[in-house]
Amino acid sequence: MTSEQTSQLKHDLETLLAPHNQSHVLQYWDQLSSADQQKLSDQIHGCNFEQLGQLFEQNESANRWDDLAKKASVPPAITLADFANEDSYEKARQSGAELLEQGKVAMIITAGGQGSRLGFDHPKGMFPIGPVSNVTLFQIFIEKVMARAKQFGSTIPIYIMTSPPTHEETIEFLEAENYFGMKPNDVKVFCQGTMPAVDHDGKLLLSEIGEIFVSPDGHGGALLALEKSGALDDMQVRGVEHVFYGQIDNPLVQVCDPALLGYHAQSGSEMTSQVVRKTDPLQKVGNVISVGGVVQIIEYSDLSEKFARETRVDGKLKLWAGSIAVHIFKTDFFRRMSETADSLPFHRAHKKVAFIDADGQRIEPETNNAIKFEKFIFDLLPSAKNAIISEVDPADGFCAVKNAAPAAAETPAHVKQAISDLHTRWFNEAGVEVADGVIVEISPLFAADAKMLKEKIAADDFLSQPITKDTYFH
Ligand code: UTP
Repeated sequence: MTSEQTSQLKHDLETLLAPHNQSHVLQYWDQLSSADQQKLSDQIHGCNFEQLGQLFEQNESANRWDDLAKKASVPPAITLADFANEDSYEKARQSGAELLEQGKVAMIITAGGQGSRLGFDHPKGMFPIGPVSNVTLFQIFIEKVMARAKQFGSTIPIYIMTSPPTHEETIEFLEAENYFGMKPNDVKVFCQGTMPAVDHDGKLLLSEIGEIFVSPDGHGGALLALEKSGALDDMQVRGVEHVFYGQIDNPLVQVCDPALLGYHAQSGSEMTSQVVRKTDPLQKVGNVISVGGVVQIIEYSDLSEKFARETRVDGKLKLWAGSIAVHIFKTDFFRRMSETADSLPFHRAHKKVAFIDADGQRIEPETNNAIKFEKFIFDLLPSAKNAIISEVDPADGFCAVKNAAPAAAETPAHVKQAISDLHTRWFNEAGVEVADGVIVEISPLFAADAKMLKEKIAADDFLSQPITKDTYFH
């Protein structure tokens, strides 16, 4: 660019930014190379300033949530009693098995988060979580999908959502690991979009002197990214009708469980959400509720204590269903929703964001200084026809790794113990003793559930010996 062009560009950008009070992002313009000026200009043109202004102004009123909570009940639910009822369970399992045999199921794993609480400097999927093996979250998920596909003699394609900060490294990692044995064509990695954040005055933040800070637009970004990346078209070509959704940080997800798929299909549900029965009224999980037949989630932080503690006549919690971010979607539903622009709202999250200040210094804030805007996938629930929920015992299906030690919950140590406890239980149910304090881990390719393990033990005398030392079965 000539110096005249540069000045003209700066002038045009100033005219664009001034009405929105964002001219400060040009403060270091004259120090930038012409390539960086162009990049900054592209970033500015990519910002929707009207939307950012509205999101900054909008303040969720507590009254809105209280009004909903007042009228809320729990949506139609498949409970643990249904899973324990042999007749009901077998019918559902058969129906789910047919979908799997016919190749009508795919898996989505969202792995675009930045794992800031965990403090791990790579995509979270690369975190070693196997309690004995140290295998990564990615390996556990991919092996679970492969085991399920093998069980039903079909293919289950995997769609992994990354974000700009995790995309390249995820692809390099999966390639180096040969996709853990999946055919590369059956693993699609697609990247979600980003959103700028603002400070408490509504101003954009600079991550570098020539760059506006942006971050991934939340797991709800999956909806648009699936459509834009061609993943929805790919599913259509493959004849996929249902998509099983899990988040990379919960290695206990019962990936593509046939009975869960069956209950979902039998109900004609467009979106089925797995839930746990809350053990504490104030438990930090989203509360799945229904108001006038519309299923939705009230975040724990938005549910007043008075409503959280409400009980039924039998003394049990009224709003008992806590979401664990495991869902099944109909692909038709995804398609319909992705056609409606902005069909998911943005939520505000107060976070710490490092930035370049007006003196050109990089500031690492010690308290929350920024508002990030994120979409949540569960906000699709109100639009889904016949949405249902399905209960799971957390010991069987939910323990997510969120925090670094020494946090009180959701640390790697907690998750490793939960994996070992679950696999110990599978051995015990099959009549095999595991000595106290011994850690056991079963690769999904060895046995993907208690039933498969039992069959394996029945066929192999050696396996039925008591387990007296830490062992990885693979
Ligand atoms: P979380 O927000 O709980 O975890 O996302 P995180 O982003 O990994 O970690 P923090 O909050 O920075 O500590 C839950 C799940 O949603 C995915 C994450 O990868 C994780 O599996 N996610 C989250 C995305 O895929 N994209 C996002 O923009 C946000």
